[in-house]
Amino acid sequence: MKKIFFGLAIMAAFMFAQTSNAQAKPKGKEWKVPAADAGKKSPAGVEAAAGKALWGTNCKSCHGTKGLGDGPKAEKIDISSGDFSSKDFQSKSDGSLFYYTKIGRKPMPSYKEKLSDSEIWQLVAYMRTMK
Ligand code: HEC
Repeated sequence: MKKIFFGLAIMAAFMFAQTSNAQAKPKGKEWKVPAADAGKKSPAGVEAAAGKALWGTNCKSCHGTKGLGDGPKAEKIDISSGDFSSKDFQSKSDGSLFYYTKIGRKPMPSYKEKLSDSEIWQLVAYMRTMK
């Protein structure tokens, strides 16, 4: 029993250290979204569940399972990939999250060619589950 508790404590400490490292990196420069894009509304009936698999294949390597910016590829990037559980991130409009994902900005790739608009909306819905 004691051993299990100790193991869990180490795991928690490790996870905490990883998270704070990810967030200790400097943020990228301000990333402005054109007003017309920021105001775009998600179509009705989009399923967050459908975005989960897309997240796993396209985004998790940098943004981490829960959007904390602690994916394995993030280690090699010198700016923060953001904290998608934060108020600051979640207060951004659906249209803005759609725009960031579609357009990308180095080191983040653009998904314009890789994903359809409806897939990007599914990802937006999935990112809303990270709050
Ligand atoms: C190679 C690593 C990488 C991958 C893969 C990646 N991103 Fe990013 N992402 C970043 C980085 C780094 C930033 C911060 C960019 C900046 O500030 O210039 C970012 C920023 C963002 C932002 C804006 C964050 C904010 O705080 O405003 C969103 C939204 C986003 N990514 C969504 C996604 C989605 C959805 C996917 C998958 C389809 C994805 N990203 C794949 C590295 C990545």
